[in-house]
Amino acid sequence: MADLRLTDVAKSYGDVNVLREIDLTIRSGEFIVFVGPSGCGKSTLLRMIAGLEQITGGTLEIDGRVMNDIPPSQRGIAMVFQSYALYPHMTVRDNMAFALKIAGQSKDQIREATDRAGRMLQLTPYLDRLPKALSGGQRQRVAIGRAIVRDPKVYLFDEPLSNLDAALRVATRIEIAQLKASMPDRTMIYVTHDQTEAMTLADRIVVLAGGGIAQVGAPLELYQRPVNEFVAQFIGSPAMNLLPGRVIATGPMTTVALDGGLQAQVTVPTRVGDEGMEVNLGVRPEDMRDTDGAAVFEGTVDLTEALGEVTLLYFGTNAETVPIITKLPGIRSGLNGRRVRLTADPHAMHLFHEGQSLLYRDGPPPPFEMRAAAPSGSPGSTPAKPHDDQGRIDDGLIKPEGPVR
Ligand SMILES: Nc1ncnc2c1ncn2[C@@H]1O[C@H](COP(=O)(O)OP(=O)(O)O)[C@@H](O)[C@H]1O
Ligand SMILES: [Mg+2]
Repeated sequence: MADLRLTDVAKSYGDVNVLREIDLTIRSGEFIVFVGPSGCGKSTLLRMIAGLEQITGGTLEIDGRVMNDIPPSQRGIAMVFQSYALYPHMTVRDNMAFALKIAGQSKDQIREATDRAGRMLQLTPYLDRLPKALSGGQRQRVAIGRAIVRDPKVYLFDEPLSNLDAALRVATRIEIAQLKASMPDRTMIYVTHDQTEAMTLADRIVVLAGGGIAQVGAPLELYQRPVNEFVAQFIGSPAMNLLPGRVIATGPMTTVALDGGLQAQVTVPTRVGDEGMEVNLGVRPEDMRDTDGAAVFEGTVDLTEALGEVTLLYFGTNAETVPIITKLPGIRSGLNGRRVRLTADPHAMHLFHEGQSLLYRDGPPPPFEMRAAAPSGSPGSTPAKPHDDQGRIDDGLIKPEGPVR
C-alpha cells in the first residue's frame, strides 16, 4: 500500500512561485509520469514528495499520514536521478549496499538484498566490478538497484534515461516497464520530457504547465481528448495543427468555417447561440489524409521529410498561412511544390475556444473510451469507424491504407 495524496500543494522560493494548487491522488501500484516544459517544476514536485525540498503550502499524505515534515528516510521512498552518482571506488554490490550498511543491516540481509537486485536488473555478472567498467545503461541499472535494495513503497525517477544514447534509452525503458510489472503493488512516479517514455510507461500522465496541473489522464485519453490547446500540442509529435475559424452550424455535430474559406464538420457538440464563436480546429498531423472531396485544408507543399515509415509534409513555412504539418503513412515522393487537399475524420478533430476544448465546457465529458486510429487499426484495437458519416469517399491522390476489418 502506498497511496499518495497531494492537496493544494505549493512551492515558492522567496517571492518566486514555482508550483501552486497541486491536487493529485496517486493510487497504490500506479505508474505516474510527470511531463511538462523545462522549468515547469517537475523535479521540484518530485523532490517535495521525496522530502528533499520543503513544501511551502498544502499537504502531502502517504497512506493517510501527513508527510510534510517527515524526513526523507522515513517516507518509504527511494529516488533515482538522471546523474547516476555512483561511488567510483566501490563495486556494484557495495554501491547498492551502501544505504543498507548505513541503516545497520546485517551482512546476510545485505547480501540477499543485493543478490536480488542484481537478478532483477541482470547485473549478477557485474556485482564485483567498479562503475568505470560498466556501460552507461548498466550504471543507470546500478542506480536503480540502489533504490530496489531498500524495497521502498514508492519509487521516484527524475529523467533517469536522459544521459543514455538512443538505443540504450529504448532498452532501459523496456527494462523499467518490466521492473514495474514485476512489482505491481509498488508506486512509481517518473519525470521525463520524452514523449515515448511518457506514453509507453504511464498508467496516467500528469501534464504540468504554468505552475499548475494542466491535465491528468491515461496517455491515450490525453492524446484523444486534450482539455486545452497546451496539452493538445504538448502530447503528440509533430504537434497538433490549430486552424482558426468560426462556428457556422451547431448541434451534436459542429460545422466550422475556416479562415482559409474551407469548412469542417466535427463531432464535438455545440449549442444554439454558439454560431459565430471563434474557434481553433485541432487536427493531428497523423489524422490528416488527402482527398478530392471536402477538404479542411488545402495548400502547396513547401517541404517534405521522408522518415521511411511516414512522410511529413510542411505547408506555410514562409508564413503565408498558419504553418501546417501532415504525416502520411509510407514513402511519398514528388510532392514538393504540389497542391494537396487534406481532410480528417470528424471524430479525430478537436475544437478549442479561447484555448479550452469545447468538449469539457460542461464539465468532464463521459468516461473516456479509446478510439482506434483512423488509418490502420493496430493489433488488438477495434477497427476505426468507416469514414462515411458524410457519404464522403476517400478517393485522394495519395491513398492511405483503409481500416483493418
Ligand atoms: N533553489 C531554487 N531557488 C530558486 N528557484 C529555483 C530553485 N530550484 C528550482 N528553481 C526554479 O523552479 C522552477 C522549476 O524547476 P525544476 O523543478 O527544476 O523544473 P523542471 O524539472 O520541470 O525542468 C525553475 O524555474 C527553477 O528556476
Ligand atoms: Mg528537472
